[in-house]
This record gives sequence, structure tokens and C-alpha cells, in this order.
Amino acid sequence: QSKKMWSGRFNEPVTELVKRYTASVDFDKRMAEVDIQGSLAHAAMLNKVGVLSIEDLKSIQGGMADILNEIREGSFEWSLDLEDVHMNIERRLTQMIGDAGKRLHTGRSRNDQVATDIRLYLRGAIDLLVGLVHELQISLIDLAEKNASTVMPGFTHLQVAQPVTFGHHMMAYVEMLGRDAERLADARKRVNRLPLGSAALAGTTYPIDREYTAQLLGFDEVCQNSLDAVSDRDFAIEFTAAAALVMTHLSRLSEELILWMSPRYGFIDIADRFCTGSSIMPQKKNPDVPELVRGKTGRVNGSLISLLTLMKGQPLAYNKDNQEDKEPLFDTVDTLTDTLRIYADMMRGITVKPEAMVRAVKQGFSTATDLADYLVKRGIPFRDAHEAVALAVHYAEQKHKDLGDLQLVELQSFSPLIGEDIFEVLTLEGSLNARNHVGGTAPFQVLVQIAKWREKLGC
Ligand code: ARG
Repeated sequence: QSKKMWSGRFNEPVTELVKRYTASVDFDKRMAEVDIQGSLAHAAMLNKVGVLSIEDLKSIQGGMADILNEIREGSFEWSLDLEDVHMNIERRLTQMIGDAGKRLHTGRSRNDQVATDIRLYLRGAIDLLVGLVHELQISLIDLAEKNASTVMPGFTHLQVAQPVTFGHHMMAYVEMLGRDAERLADARKRVNRLPLGSAALAGTTYPIDREYTAQLLGFDEVCQNSLDAVSDRDFAIEFTAAAALVMTHLSRLSEELILWMSPRYGFIDIADRFCTGSSIMPQKKNPDVPELVRGKTGRVNGSLISLLTLMKGQPLAYNKDNQEDKEPLFDTVDTLTDTLRIYADMMRGITVKPEAMVRAVKQGFSTATDLADYLVKRGIPFRDAHEAVALAVHYAEQKHKDLGDLQLVELQSFSPLIGEDIFEVLTLEGSLNARNHVGGTAPFQVLVQIAKWREKLGC
């Protein structure tokens, strides 16, 4: 039984259950490398300001290098008795190098230490995630480019509305993910500030140089209020909110993929490696991955609520409640990492079925708005044109024909202004090409957007 680092004050040890209940090492050991990074910077700073000798600094550096090796090769022995990652590493250091190890914690508390670790960890995670968002964007852009002129029904209320292209639809998600990457990058600015030096809550009596520590660790700024610095978890909440939005976007796309893959739509097929079968129904191929993405979105949303709720009642400064920030945060990083990776690969394995899309778009009078716009261009007020076309749709529906399949005389019974040129307008291509402005679905515009994104992402 190893002695607790703060045990001198206590008459009895904690019970086994309390030990397990209060320990965080099982999950916070994933911050081991950043914890060491933070300690090394702290030690270097202490040496710079004359609080730690060069000999002590050297042996701390040597000891930490050995510990890092042990952790990487899996021989480091984590102990629940030592509560968390910080005390596990510090104890091991002291075992290895003696008194110099005991001097490391000078002018520092686990409160500013853990806040620093989470920020370092999250900064790395964000950088990785932004890269993965870009990867997914690239796979969507490739798919969009191949389908810049692939007509599909655009829906509102899940009813056929107007023709769009599959490429345009994919590029809608590229836009969403672009905002997601921006949000992550923005959150990173507030992640990348240094709490170390705040000590337990009030600062420290040593002549510390926080700017120097910040510089060593690559932080942009130093947190300006010690009480705030040790109790702030805004940055974790902001990150999780940004992550929840990424998941929300992917959940919407998942819902569409699931619908599109159902035989009722039959617009796409998802590669077998992302689907599973049924244990009873031999014919089944289920879109498990998109379904799970939709499901896991609930998990990330839950983490966001966990973190918000964790913080709402805490008085300043540090409270042990904060230890509960890690699991939702780590789970969010893991869920998002896996989801983005899987999604980029899955979108590369989508088979598009243009015939099914065209069949569907021809069933819903999707060019009705084009007919109304045609009449407006011939001088009819839009509301009147709308009504004339509504009557034409009603008529065509009874004849089981699309608008473009009616005879000219039939169309003219709804407006004498309709001429032979209407049949060009009522084609799917005519409808698409007519929406030729920034943001429109015309294939030309979709290609313009694709080129813009390729330039932006360098792909
Ligand atoms: N394991 C703790 C956490 O995750 C580290 C800080 C503990 N500080 C303390 N005074 N108990 O928040």
C-alpha cells in the first residue's frame, strides 16, 4: 500500500470504495504525455527564475524521458492508490531520481496542472479533428464532382420540390463541414491559453515567469485570473458544442443515406463493408454505419449537456466535480474521430443510381415552379402564374402525366401565353441550368463551388 501524497494530515485511509470512487487514473492516464510535457516546461521555468537548480532540472528531464518510455512501451505501473495521472507520474519520478522529483511540484497545484493538461490534450485533438473534417470534405467534393450534373429530386417536407443535382446536395454538406472546421479552429483559440502558474487558486509566492512557460508549451496567451484559470472549463464545453454540431450534420446526412438506400428510393448503394446482415432475414443489407452515426450523435449531445450541467452550480475556484469533465470530453473526441474517419471512407464507397433519381424527380411535378417563372417572364404577376400552374398540375395529375408530357394546346388552356419554347423550360436540364447564380443548383455553379473548395483545401 503506497502512501498518499497528502496523507500526513489523515488518521485513516479511505475505504476501497471511496478510493475507486475518487480515483481518475483509469481514464486520465491518456493525458500522461501532455502531463509530462507540462511538467518539463514548469521545471524549465522554475530553473530559469532560479527556484530549481540546473542539476535538479537535468535529473527531472532524464527521469521524465525514462517514464515516457515506460508509458509508451506499456511497462509503467499505474496505481489506483495514487489517484490520478499527475500523482502517478510524480511518484514514479521521485522513485527514480529522489529529491529532485519532490521539487517538481514547487509553485504548482494539481488544479492548474490538470487544467493545463486538458488544454494541451484538447489542442492536439482539435488539430487532428480539423484535418479529419477536411478529409471528409474532400471525399464529398470528389463525389460531388462526379455528380455535378446528376439530377435528383430536391425535397422540402420530404415531398418532391424542384430538381437539384446530387453534386449540389453533397456540396451542401461540404459547406456545413466548412463551418464546423471554422468553429473548431475558433474554439482552439480559447483552448490555447495557459492556466499553469495559477497554482491552487490564488497564484504562488515564487517569482514565476508564466510567459516563458506559455512559450515553451506553445500557448498563445496566459490566463489572466488565477481563480478563473483553475475553474474554467468553457473551452471544453465550446469544443463539445462544436463537436455536437459536426455530429448533427453527419446525423442528417446519415438519415438521408438510410432513406436513399431503402428500396423505396433506391438512389444509392452503400459499400458492403459499411453494412451488416440480419440473423434471421437472409436478404437484408442494413446501413448500420449511418444508423450508428445517427445514434452516436445522441451520445455527443449528452456529453455537451453533461459538461454544461457539471459547471452550472460550481462556486469558484476548483472543485473535485471537475474531474468529471474528462470522460465526456474524451468520449466526444473518440466518437468524433472514429465517425469522421469512417465517414470519409464510406462516402468514397457510395454508388449513385441516376436512373432511380430521374424516375423520382419525374413523379412530383418538380418543374412546376419553372412553368410559373416562365409565365412571370411573359408579364403575368407571380401569384396569378402560381394559380394557373396549380390548375395545370391538377389537370396533369388526373391524366397521369408530367407537365412536360402535356400537349401544347393542353398547356395553353391554362395560359394563352405559353408557346412551343415551354418544352425546353420543362426539362430537368432546363430547370437546373436556369438556376445559374451563386449558390444555385446549375451544374456550372456546382463546379464553381467545387473549384473554390478545392482551392481552399488544396485538394
Ligand atoms: N484528478 C483531478 C482532476 O481531474 C486533478 C486535480 C485534483 N485537485 C485536487 N485538489 N483534488 O480534476
